[in-house]
Amino acid sequence: MEKRILFKYIDDPNQIHIDTYIAHGGYKAWEKTLKTMQPAQVIDEVKKSGLRGRGGAGFPAGMKWNFVPKDSPKPRYLICNADESEPGTCKDRVLMEQDPHGVVEGMAIAAYAIGSHLAFCYVRGEFVKPAALMEQAVKEAYDKKMLGKNIFGTGYDLNMVVHTGGGAYICGEETALLNSLEGERGMSRIRPPFPAVEGLYACPTVVNNVETLAAVPHIINNGGEWYASMGTEKSKGTKIFSLSGHVKKPGNYEVEMGTPLSYLISELGGGPLDGHKIKAIIPGGSSTPFLLPSQIDAPLDYESIAAAGSMLGSGAVIVMDERTCMVWVIERLIHFYRHESCGKCTPCREGTGWLEQLISRIERGEGKPGDLEKIDSICDNILGRTICPLGDAAVMPIQSALKLFRDEFQYHIDHKKCLVKSEFEFK
Ligand SMILES: Cc1cc2nc3c(=O)[nH]c(=O)nc-3n(C[C@H](O)[C@H](O)[C@H](O)COP(=O)(O)O)c2cc1C
Repeated sequence: MEKRILFKYIDDPNQIHIDTYIAHGGYKAWEKTLKTMQPAQVIDEVKKSGLRGRGGAGFPAGMKWNFVPKDSPKPRYLICNADESEPGTCKDRVLMEQDPHGVVEGMAIAAYAIGSHLAFCYVRGEFVKPAALMEQAVKEAYDKKMLGKNIFGTGYDLNMVVHTGGGAYICGEETALLNSLEGERGMSRIRPPFPAVEGLYACPTVVNNVETLAAVPHIINNGGEWYASMGTEKSKGTKIFSLSGHVKKPGNYEVEMGTPLSYLISELGGGPLDGHKIKAIIPGGSSTPFLLPSQIDAPLDYESIAAAGSMLGSGAVIVMDERTCMVWVIERLIHFYRHESCGKCTPCREGTGWLEQLISRIERGEGKPGDLEKIDSICDNILGRTICPLGDAAVMPIQSALKLFRDEFQYHIDHKKCLVKSEFEFK
């Protein structure tokens, strides 16, 4: 069953307007926070909820907020990461387009919790409509005095800025995002120092994903325990999964953590297309290893998907049926990652280029004996050797495909043609 919490009013076209949002109980959590809670209490409630970051890494939100030094004389910043560039992921966009005030309210509460008076929403450059709707929501919030000076007469001030991104996948990586926001080229920074200690303009900064922040008002309204009562022991609450590929009903579905992958694909997504069967599934965005149909009952939570050999990541589930050539899939992916590598780290900058050359020539039927071993070696030399995980993101699906579907790559090299396409397209 879908469990719509963040998505409760997602189908109401008026939800984008502040009056409808307030009529649906919106900004109550913000008022409660400012009038009745100390920042430490907000952090405690979020810790109790077990909310983990929805941007990919699954880091506990309350713990991250607690890392902000309490005694720093510097300003603190809250950043909503709305870059959403991981192929397959399209949930943050929907939250911003169809319930933008939920994001504004979550950002406001998080900003208060860390003692910030300036919050940024960094929206992917190509997201023209979500950025416009977020700007409209922020303006409405100012007009209703939910933002600005002396909010609810409590003496607390908060300003909010919507900033469009640099149009690069790397700008979603939190330290590259900070550089981009500062007007620099989007390139990752070495950690430590972590952003919570030294982030934007070298000041304490918390970066959280859109979906993470949109969950916060619900946690404040209903309590951390209520949120923690949903999901599994270590993966609490609900999660929005972006289901795409070879299914009858692709779309965004909010379900409790721990819901079986098979339920998402077969019940909510309508299952594979008629007459076809599933060959491979990417469970957490294009940088996560493939799952096989035999693993379709894996529960959708961080631990279970890791135990199945992949990652929950951003929750983008991509289904591929038996007509899909895995060499072609990997060629498309490495093309993307090579293009998006920021170039700072040599293994990623050079390695993704070499991988693209090798994989493209195999895909074209021009592969040579020894190419697969070269690919293995290049992957080994990128994994874990870069400042940010973009290098890992580029090689994990390749390593996984070579492990699970090596015979398809070998067939391309040996026969100079595609095993899958010859079976399905040329009949
Ligand atoms: C290459 C790369 C791209 C990323 N893109 C995004 C993104 O588009 N949106 C996002 O929220 N997190 C993205 N992340 C993860 C962020 O670095 C960071 O972990 C996240 O914004 C923290 O928020 P959370 O704790 O709420 O998940 C990306 C990470 C990497 C390595």
